[in-house]
Amino acid sequence: MLLGRVLLLTAAHSGRRRMAAQAQSCDAFEWHWLRETKSTQDAAKEILKQRVVGNNNGHDGKHVAVATAHQTAGRGTRGRTWKDDGRGNVALTVALDMRHLPLKPVTLVPLRVGVEVARVLADHLEDAPGCAVSLKWPNDVLLNGKKVCGVLIEADGDALLVGVGINVATHPDVPQAGPERGREATSLAAGGATSADAEAIAKDLATHLSTWADGVDDAPTLVAHWSHFVDWSLPLTLRDTSEVVAPVRLLPDGRLRVRPAAGGPERDLVAEYLLLSLIHISEPTRQE
Ligand code: BTN
Repeated sequence: MLLGRVLLLTAAHSGRRRMAAQAQSCDAFEWHWLRETKSTQDAAKEILKQRVVGNNNGHDGKHVAVATAHQTAGRGTRGRTWKDDGRGNVALTVALDMRHLPLKPVTLVPLRVGVEVARVLADHLEDAPGCAVSLKWPNDVLLNGKKVCGVLIEADGDALLVGVGINVATHPDVPQAGPERGREATSLAAGGATSADAEAIAKDLATHLSTWADGVDDAPTLVAHWSHFVDWSLPLTLRDTSEVVAPVRLLPDGRLRVRPAAGGPERDLVAEYLLLSLIHISEPTRQE
């Protein structure tokens, strides 16, 4: 089923590639490829600080994209680390102007980022048969059910720092217990995309995110795009309680309606940890 979706997606990909090429030639973003850096989130902040233009708070209309194949102090969500071995994975931060984002509420932005990552990976996996890219709420990107990408979004003044780590060539052994525990990981190479190029993938994704930021979007479109990539048959295990729930549908504000596997009423999940640096959530119901 998912494979079918990926194949359908690739049939439509040539149009998107044309769009990507145009955006690159329009220079919608300022591109920085670093040999090594502590964290692309911090490198992007530094670049923004240095390019303050007049009183425009550092934004001159171009987005900033910073990428590397080696971070020495990469950050994950919930205070975890994000590791690479410097042998060809992607760490990318795209700094977008939060005042002019096309999508509201801002709680949908992490989901849009997941969709754009999934699209780029599906394009780059075109020649790797049997690979299925899917999304897991709120914004893990999976390859054949294992985590291939993580997203960390932080606010810095008016900038939204969209950080994306993609396991292209290698993947870490993720501990299954303790504070660093997480979902089992994989890489594009392990999925069969052995010639995938980290810099090309990073640039494509920066193009997608910049093009999106300069375009038009709305909640119903995002919900449709996101829902298309989700494996609705995959249960979620809630991190804090280990409760197992089945996803039912995505709501127009980014919450996920779920049904407890053990029975009981449906309820809505809020990905609070993703949003703490972005907004104040007044009525959290349940954190993943
Ligand atoms: C997660 O924990 O799943 C999110 C990982 C996010 C990693 C990316 S790599 C680029 C950017 N720079 C960082 O230090 N972290 C993010």
